[in-house]
Amino acid sequence: MTMGARARWFCGLALITACAWSAVPPTQPETLGEAIYRHGALPGGEPIRGERAAGMYVEGNTAACVNCHRRSGLGMQEGHLTIPPVAGSYLFHPRAGTIDDLDLPFVPGMRADRDPYTDASLAQAIRDGIGMGGKPLDVLMPRFKLDDAQMAALIAYLKQLSPGAVPGVTDSVLHFATIFTPDSDPVARQGVLDVLNRFFEDKNHYTRAESPRMRSSRRMMFKVNRHWELHVWQLSGAPDTWEAQLRAKLQAQPVFAVISGLGGHTWAPVQRFCEAQQLPCLFPNVDLPVDAESNFETVYFSRGVLLEAELMAHALLAMPDKATERKLVQVYRDGDVGPDAAARLRATLNGHAWHVISETIPAAASASALRATLARVGPCDALVLWLRPQDIAALGPLPADVKVVYMSGRMGGLDQAPLPTAWRHLTHMAYPFDLPEHRVVQVDYPLGWFRLRQIPVVAQQVQADTYLACIILSDTLNHMVDTFVRDYLIERIEEMLEHRILTGYYPHLALAPNQRFASKGGYLAHFAEGTGTRVVADGDWIAP
Ligand code: HEC
Repeated sequence: MTMGARARWFCGLALITACAWSAVPPTQPETLGEAIYRHGALPGGEPIRGERAAGMYVEGNTAACVNCHRRSGLGMQEGHLTIPPVAGSYLFHPRAGTIDDLDLPFVPGMRADRDPYTDASLAQAIRDGIGMGGKPLDVLMPRFKLDDAQMAALIAYLKQLSPGAVPGVTDSVLHFATIFTPDSDPVARQGVLDVLNRFFEDKNHYTRAESPRMRSSRRMMFKVNRHWELHVWQLSGAPDTWEAQLRAKLQAQPVFAVISGLGGHTWAPVQRFCEAQQLPCLFPNVDLPVDAESNFETVYFSRGVLLEAELMAHALLAMPDKATERKLVQVYRDGDVGPDAAARLRATLNGHAWHVISETIPAAASASALRATLARVGPCDALVLWLRPQDIAALGPLPADVKVVYMSGRMGGLDQAPLPTAWRHLTHMAYPFDLPEHRVVQVDYPLGWFRLRQIPVVAQQVQADTYLACIILSDTLNHMVDTFVRDYLIERIEEMLEHRILTGYYPHLALAPNQRFASKGGYLAHFAEGTGTRVVADGDWIAP
């Protein structure tokens, strides 16, 4: 286990105040049992309190069962630390000879060799730390003073956590969906689909023969190899109709999870749908993710243009001479993600001596409208461009009296951005990826895979991310044996991600249980002198 992971899991033990990552506001009215389990909250918001050793307490969010036993109730394993499942079927099952006789999905902490808990003995375990059979439980498990009504509510919640049949999973098939919004780029869309289709084909081809040996036992030696089936959910029409379309598609074809996909100017309706259906949505390709604490189901590689705005703010706030007010002009097109990115930059600069002006170009306006806008920008300390490559190519002359220019790398095309020569010496690019020279080996791997399968590379970063999403899904499912529980899929991704060696465009990936963005930072960079595509970092990696 890494130091970070160890600190995280043991933080309740030693650093009682340091971490409270389950501070997720509930999206729906929740039951008392759920409030205790997930948030450590009693009626009226009073925190639960657990005692570790004499006089050592954990409270509220930090004491919530979810921190250790996880949202699925299936427990966890990291390094040598194994936390048992507390979903009802694992606590109340009859004693069995081996875990294979249990007829329950395999999880690392499951226990066969003890008598089933009753409501009374379970209350004793939670209150006094006495496990079934009279054995004291490890001190990592706090003792909780709950009254009878609170205990009954908690036990009822544990009982209903038991995994049952999961939609989208049959004895022979695992169904997945991928989602494309109507405003997503059609060229990149084809690129994403090519990768997904080939990955699924390969997966089904190679796993037909092979049966990985997951557990040693007489009865159930091999994990069942299921066929992976991909369903393409292409949305149409206005965003406020997408949720209804998605509900209809899910009803017609249940799926276990959503993988990858591609968004345009908003992903919010898709995220709301996945949250409401408790459907994992793994690493969609979007420039503008939803940055909401209450989100559990959607995990992203990056905070996209919101992260870029914070990288720019980091540089702007580091500029010397903070006393006099300075002028910043942001230019973006209506109907794209620019307005949201600009709002994040404005909010981050709020309270500092920056006067922020926004210039909106209508969605359908020509490049000459953009040039006319730039011509009247006037003297300013910083100009920020939230523009796509077509606009970047058509910028025209550099406005006079602009001290520095920042541009979005994601939107503008990264190394391939067609930035006119006259702009290059003043322009810095938000670059929320590893630098080209550092990622060569990482990205060569998917590129080689694409080449072998004759997949045209039309949107390299998006296609590399799609491939990475597939590999993460496949590796995680290999470790889950046959435990198809949607929350558990996300929990296992959280546990495994930071140990990955192949991380594609990102120097490092990790998802603590309250984090939904796996890569946390980026560079500010500029083009090397000349007209080439060589990008050089201004300084170190920044995690704002
Ligand atoms: C800081 C981590 C942590 C928290 C928080 C925590 N537990 Fe535990 N729990 C553990 C560990 C570790 C064990 C295993 C102890 C052992 O086997 O000696 C355990 C064991 C249990 C067991 C016994 C399981 C069995 O199979 O015998 C139950 C029941 C349980 N916990 C319920 C809860 C409930 C309910 C909450 C919240 C009110 C909670 N735990 C909060 C870490 C935790």
